[in-house]
Amino acid sequence: MQIANIAQPTSSKVPPARFPRDQWYVAGFSSELTDQPLARTFLGEKVVLFRTGEGQAAALEDRCCHRSLPLSCGTVEGEGLRCGYHGMLYNPAGQCIEIPGQERVPSKAKVRSYHLVEQNKMLWIWMPAREGSTPGSAPPVYPFHEHPNYKWGSGMYHYQAPWQLIHDNLMDLSHLGYVHLKTIGGNAKLHMNAKMNVTQDGDHVKVVRQMPGSTPPPTYKAAWPFGDKCERWQEIEFHLSHLRIWTGACEPGTDAIDDPQRGGFHMRGLHGITPETAETCHYFWSMASTRHPDMPENIDEVIRQTAFTFDEDRVVIEKQYQNMREFGERADWLDIHVDVGANRARRVVQRLTELSEASKA
Ligand code: FES
Ligand SMILES: [Fe+2]
Repeated sequence: MQIANIAQPTSSKVPPARFPRDQWYVAGFSSELTDQPLARTFLGEKVVLFRTGEGQAAALEDRCCHRSLPLSCGTVEGEGLRCGYHGMLYNPAGQCIEIPGQERVPSKAKVRSYHLVEQNKMLWIWMPAREGSTPGSAPPVYPFHEHPNYKWGSGMYHYQAPWQLIHDNLMDLSHLGYVHLKTIGGNAKLHMNAKMNVTQDGDHVKVVRQMPGSTPPPTYKAAWPFGDKCERWQEIEFHLSHLRIWTGACEPGTDAIDDPQRGGFHMRGLHGITPETAETCHYFWSMASTRHPDMPENIDEVIRQTAFTFDEDRVVIEKQYQNMREFGERADWLDIHVDVGANRARRVVQRLTELSEASKA
């Protein structure tokens, strides 16, 4: 077992409503934009998401400039979104283009719009540090929603817990042996003792764990014809807006466990975690997996068991946060060896928060 530096206790007080801005975050899945507007709060800002009749996805401040009815109470039309009170029609840029019964539309009849990009079946929203700050980069590309070797499914949660508690949970998969015994768990000791390598490249943190000689857990058995043992890997990448978790296993005596071209059963998890408020967040997940020729429809079972697994995490994390609130100042944390990756991710969030606050000043 590799023992990491045992750090000082980490503060676990109720977090302040401070977030990294000038960043892309996941706003949802493409499939969520139908013929109805969708209200969602990101980083404390009320936003309405919609798709025009012409197919363009858009995001506006959720407030009509006339009398402040949420625009999400309105209706989607060909050119934009019509307020549900007196019928003002807004285009995707937030400009009012029609006031029923009034010929002239003042140029100041507009609401704030957000940069929204739809790609890889996801919606990405740019949350600016200040009015008018524009994206300095394109949103992240996620190829596994359109990859011929993978099938995928997805889900989402609205969490009663701060977003970073989910980062902590995903950056440290040693909890599998205690929380997820019915699905992707396995031997708790093996998980806790697995060799762990933590690296960092700029704002990306990577945690790699390998568990050769593992007993295949239930989800793996349900999706791939493993024998008694398998060679498991877990590769977790932290990006500010999301985590990419590449887990899987190959059969013993086939490929090297650390070879990116290895065969076997692969699960590619995307975890888009977007703060709603200081104490709540949105969690959008997808899971893509490879198929064995004898089990081509394994994705249905993989998704069912993945959803069950993430339900288990939710119970733990929301209970954890409830307890943190109840213990208040006394709920300081002690770090152990499994926390290295999560603590690095926390430092990235801290740094990017300070950076965006400095750019605002
Ligand atoms: S409140 Fe929207 S048109 Fe009046
Ligand atoms: Fe978990």
